[in-house]
Amino acid sequence: MDQQQLERTARALVAPNKGILAADESTGTIKKRFDSIGVESTAASRIGYRETFFTAKGANENISGVILYDETLRQNIGDGRSVPKALMGVGILPGIKVDTGAKPLVGHPGESITEGLDGLLDRCQEYYKIGARFAKWRAVYKIFDGKPSHACIHANAHALARYAAIAQEAGLVPIVEPEVLMDGDHTIEAYEAVSGWAWAEVFRELCYLNVHLEGILLKPNMVLSGTTCPTQASVSDVAEATVRLLRRVVPPAVPGIVFLSGGQSDVRATEHLNAMNQLGPHPWELSYSYGRALQAPALKAWAGSAANAPVAQAAFLHRARCNGAARTGTYTPAMEAAPARA
Ligand code: 13P
Repeated sequence: MDQQQLERTARALVAPNKGILAADESTGTIKKRFDSIGVESTAASRIGYRETFFTAKGANENISGVILYDETLRQNIGDGRSVPKALMGVGILPGIKVDTGAKPLVGHPGESITEGLDGLLDRCQEYYKIGARFAKWRAVYKIFDGKPSHACIHANAHALARYAAIAQEAGLVPIVEPEVLMDGDHTIEAYEAVSGWAWAEVFRELCYLNVHLEGILLKPNMVLSGTTCPTQASVSDVAEATVRLLRRVVPPAVPGIVFLSGGQSDVRATEHLNAMNQLGPHPWELSYSYGRALQAPALKAWAGSAANAPVAQAAFLHRARCNGAARTGTYTPAMEAAPARA
């Protein structure tokens, strides 16, 4: 394992004004996104859609890396170049989702364990050869009926740490993603308690497995009110709770924290990140690894037609610029009114 290379890659992913585009929806998830705009999901439509992001001119100003799904890492864009080559050509690092999904945690109804450890070193080594430089593994925890259980918290933390150690061995920077879902009527206080427990357990396991903390990125949920909680915390409450908890649990050795958007609206995800960075300086970079919050307006604009690519790209670049500004706490609502430039 080349620790210095891992550190350089991790720092490049959280370079100033930049963050990550999560475009690693599994075949099932991207079908759901396409269903929402009435577009059939095929290998051709999937690369057609994703290529819109990969070829958006100027994306590299605010996008440091893109997380890909196995299929996409092996596809070519319209001009015949492979996806990793096209991304590297503009200084964007290709990443790869390496887990094989959240499956039912046997003995614990309603809870899940993320799978994919078998054969993982071989797969990571192959991904590195194809061009990937970082990886992602997502653990999922749901708050309901006194859950998550200790079994769920522990099993997922252990799997995340096993994955992180293996990814580093293959030269890939592991994005460690413990996602406590925002679905539910839990309060922000309950969300903070569960998130703190999940994250602390993850760092304990990372230490047991000798993971090089300077060469990882943490991808957590923000601490907010559950989606159906009657009282919704304000942007400043969310920023304060999230930063407070991260300070308690995440060692300063970790170079960056790249939040998921988790179902927040695109603008709200930007506002939250901006408010957190206004509370700095922090011991780690606070950045983004958004899927829906970077893609949603572009998906609608694209609507299944290559002819709409310029409008979709403008919508994507606009969100990327807003989030880039949120990296320094300089995002303002007036930016939303500014005309989107392609
Ligand atoms: P969202 O930002 O849509 O939550 O996606 C991020 C991600 O990669 C989830 O694993």
